[in-house]
Amino acid sequence: MIAVLPGDGIGPEVTREAVRALTAAAEKTGTALKFEELPFGGQAIDETGGPLPDATLAACRRAHAVLLGAVGGPRWDALAPEVRPERGLLGLREELGTFANLRPVRLPASKSFVSPLREDLAGGGFDLLVVRELTGGLYFGDKRRWQEDGVEGAMDVMSYAAPEIERVARIAFALARSRSGRLTSVDKANVLVTSRLWRDVVGAVARDYPDVRLDHMYVDNCAHLMVRDPRRFDVILTENTFGDILSDLGGGLVGSLGLLPSASLGEGGPAIYNPVHGSAPDIAGRGVANPVGAILSAAMLARLSLGHEDMAGLIEEAVWRTLDHARPADLASGDGRRPTSTGAFGDAVVEAILGGEQQGETGRGRPGRDGWPAIERRLQM
Ligand code: IPM
Ligand code: MG
Repeated sequence: MIAVLPGDGIGPEVTREAVRALTAAAEKTGTALKFEELPFGGQAIDETGGPLPDATLAACRRAHAVLLGAVGGPRWDALAPEVRPERGLLGLREELGTFANLRPVRLPASKSFVSPLREDLAGGGFDLLVVRELTGGLYFGDKRRWQEDGVEGAMDVMSYAAPEIERVARIAFALARSRSGRLTSVDKANVLVTSRLWRDVVGAVARDYPDVRLDHMYVDNCAHLMVRDPRRFDVILTENTFGDILSDLGGGLVGSLGLLPSASLGEGGPAIYNPVHGSAPDIAGRGVANPVGAILSAAMLARLSLGHEDMAGLIEEAVWRTLDHARPADLASGDGRRPTSTGAFGDAVVEAILGGEQQGETGRGRPGRDGWPAIERRLQM
């Protein structure tokens, strides 16, 4: 069973297209999939009083994988941090222990025209991978707000224990090994003591991966070079907050955050798949949202949690082929074409999947919630 958490804003409309694409790919490969839709985020606050209801969490724990949309919106902005929709997302990451967040920044060369970068930088397309630590750092440290002598203050604590760094580093090294063999670890070691520990631990893990070429880079310099010289990067490993920021920068490189998928993996149990973009309440319900990030997240789900490379390949191919003739609104600006609606884009993807050529091996999938060792094998394919 796949737990589907559409959430808020454009979450439901893009998730719907992701489920349709996955269903089409399952049909094409003769696979049976079951979905269970559950309240989450602001929608769950309205229905049950909290962003991550017990029944939703229980269903996620039972699931082979979680397919998620987005959370948040102005309607819930005035709520205290502990009960906001975003807290549901952080709670789910924490409860499922999904500490490794994989955010591929991909754009085939044939689609490089949607990137805002010059042809000499974007012409070859992009294929970077941001590996973001997802259950530590500022997001989960102590937080406090106070008033003292009439002056307001607040703090968020950033802390990391060595094992938290080591486990996500191992995943990044394994991924780098399966790709170009290059890994950039990003920190702020000239200022932050957590970054000094980060650098030491990543350096120690590197000894187990002598075939991977590791370099360390400050996060400010990384942001600069991702734009100036994106090809110098392959896998980027970084902590939670830096990864949040650099992955949005990756969305800028490829032309829209709406194109980026993500997978959040733990040591065991179900992984979470969702587009990197947020709930975009300003455009919700108008049929203009870009469903590509959500659909590509479904492809990652098929590959990593179901072990169905064939389904993943079908979905990804279908997305790129659809982009040959259809452009969601965020990518259509300026070229004089009429943007394709969310639903029409999804229709075209489904059609391309059902009419597509099946590539690679088929039906290897024993749907697995067998955790990291199996996922690591799959990542190394
Ligand atoms: C993301 C989002 C979330 C994050 C928000 C919605 C809490 O921006 O997944 O990148 O900051 O992790
Ligand atoms: Mg973000």
